[in-house]
Amino acid sequence: MRAQTLLVLFAVAGGALAAPLQAPFEVPSTLVKRKLNGRFLHITDMHPDPYYTPRTSVKKSCHRKKPKKKGDEAGYYGTPHGDCDSPLRLTNFTLDFLEKHWASEIDFVIWTGDNARHDEDNKIPRTPAEIYDTNRAVASKMKSIFSARGIPVVPSLGNNDVWLQNILTPGPNTVTNTYSSIWGSFIPFPSYQVFQRGAYYSTEVVPDAIGVISLNTLYFYDSNKAVGGCEYTDPEDAGNLQFDWLQVQLESFRNRNMQVWVTGHVPPSSGTYYPECYVRYAELSLRFQDTILGHLFGHLNADHFHFIEANDLNIWAEPAKAMSPSGLFEGIIETFENIPKESKIDYDDYGVVNVSPSVVPNPYLPSFRIFSYNITDAGSQMMRPSDSKLRVHTTKDRTPRHRSGRAGDKKKLCKLKEYRDTWKCQLREAWHSDEEAPSRQNKLWSPLGYAQYYLPNLDSADKRHDPKYNLEYMTFRPQDLHPHDNETALNFHYPVPLRNLPRSLRNDTITKSTYAPYCMRDLTVSSWITLARKFADPKRKKLRKLFKKFMFMGGEEG
Ligand SMILES: *[C@@H]1O[C@H](CO)[C@@H](O)[C@H](O)[C@H]1NC(C)=O
Ligand SMILES: *[C@@H]1O[C@H](CO)[C@@H](O)[C@H](O)[C@H]1NC(C)=O
Ligand SMILES: *[C@@H]1O[C@H](CO)[C@@H](O)[C@H](O)[C@H]1NC(C)=O
Ligand SMILES: *[C@@H]1O[C@H](CO)[C@@H](O)[C@H](O)[C@H]1NC(C)=O
Repeated sequence: MRAQTLLVLFAVAGGALAAPLQAPFEVPSTLVKRKLNGRFLHITDMHPDPYYTPRTSVKKSCHRKKPKKKGDEAGYYGTPHGDCDSPLRLTNFTLDFLEKHWASEIDFVIWTGDNARHDEDNKIPRTPAEIYDTNRAVASKMKSIFSARGIPVVPSLGNNDVWLQNILTPGPNTVTNTYSSIWGSFIPFPSYQVFQRGAYYSTEVVPDAIGVISLNTLYFYDSNKAVGGCEYTDPEDAGNLQFDWLQVQLESFRNRNMQVWVTGHVPPSSGTYYPECYVRYAELSLRFQDTILGHLFGHLNADHFHFIEANDLNIWAEPAKAMSPSGLFEGIIETFENIPKESKIDYDDYGVVNVSPSVVPNPYLPSFRIFSYNITDAGSQMMRPSDSKLRVHTTKDRTPRHRSGRAGDKKKLCKLKEYRDTWKCQLREAWHSDEEAPSRQNKLWSPLGYAQYYLPNLDSADKRHDPKYNLEYMTFRPQDLHPHDNETALNFHYPVPLRNLPRSLRNDTITKSTYAPYCMRDLTVSSWITLARKFADPKRKKLRKLFKKFMFMGGEEG
């Protein structure tokens, strides 16, 4: 009954954009040429909880019972650094804030899943109906805020968007069919049938220029016991089928001279994906480094980045060390410490995975991220036919290098029965890398930086005092926020609109700011490597501390 009502509401809320359910239509933006702003939103892990009740006990999932002490009390807009999900008041507040301050400033929205609460409360177990209801409610709000303005929204499926949590069988099934309907207006028609089978799709957010691939990471996630984990010997495995599709997508974007963001919920790492799924992910991301602008994920709620490395495709002479037991921060710093020196590094060997923090303040603070990308020459590009030779692609026939004697001899090892039928031994394609690609050199469509906003004062917000989204930090150099001496304000694309900056950063003489600790010129692969090296440098303890502070928003690792 409830679901029925909401379906009708959704059709009405869509307004002029509404189409009969199950009948997909083109995302409006592919029909209308918009003026580009050179920015997009990444939002993730909202976790709205319809049962959240202020002033109940955090220990009881913020659902019931009087708190035993002050620290156990559920807050009005949410409970910072706690174990509870988001009150609808918080997810609404966040989306309303984005509408008011950002909807006219961005070109598209990357939205990487988990729009249902966690399954933490034994007294109120989750149901499929509730999961779909909260998803439908958020999707409908995304539609009225962004789609209605012609801004493409690109959702992906989270591990809490399915029932049971983490478990998704190969499609088509009820889940893929239901999200085909809930996200019908976000999924372009040519992707629709693939989506009904696998809950993944690709779309164009800047027509003929920038694509986004939305992956269904549940088919790679090692907590999903309903799939096989991309074994080489199991070509029909749902994860393998998705990688076969991904490869075709990347080839096709590349052939069209387009650039693409790869997005999804669970970030690719050897600790979260089935080992063989991770090998395929790593190989494709390096093979198409000249086409991929970056990798955007959520799920862990903690703000961080890590690298995909050619090394991950080696067979190690001695068994690889187990995941560092010391946690996310220490583990990442350890990998940064192993990055070769400037004179020894080959940037073809790296991909950068950016993990955005969550809206749910569990266990950190609500936040969202605004990326800025290079549109300096977008006008001329947009007017050229898409087959113009703007980019030079060089294809190197190469296999990942073996380094520092730790990796085994792949040629030899791959003859052994133990390794022969594994992806590491079977993937032998040449890689497309190009030091002039937008992932490697600041040029048209390159990511330039991001500004991250958060709610530091969630604690003190109540009925009469709204919380306030503030800039937490940004990757830019302060001087890049303003036209340089020889640039005119008229042609300048502000990476962050001045009105959305704290007062101190609006002053165009500023060159130093605590909001700008990283001072990155752009977000190309080498810029991230340079930053990672600084974090690994024992002489830069203060900067490393800051990385940790941002990772957990001033709290402890959850
Ligand atoms: C959230 O927003 C939706 C739609 O905008 C509205 O129907 C709902 O009542 C709001 N909920 C809260 C708790 O503010
Ligand atoms: C964008 O790329 C062009 C080169 O294509 C470069 O000249 C320009 O400085 C870049 N814009 C920004 C804001 O970095
Ligand atoms: C503007 O000045 C900067 C450094 O002062 C220089 O690198 C850049 O090439 C100049 N740009 C133009 C368009 O003259
Ligand atoms: C900008 O900063 C400079 C140097 O700190 C200061 O002299 C100037 O008054 C500031 N301008 C404004 C408009 O605040």
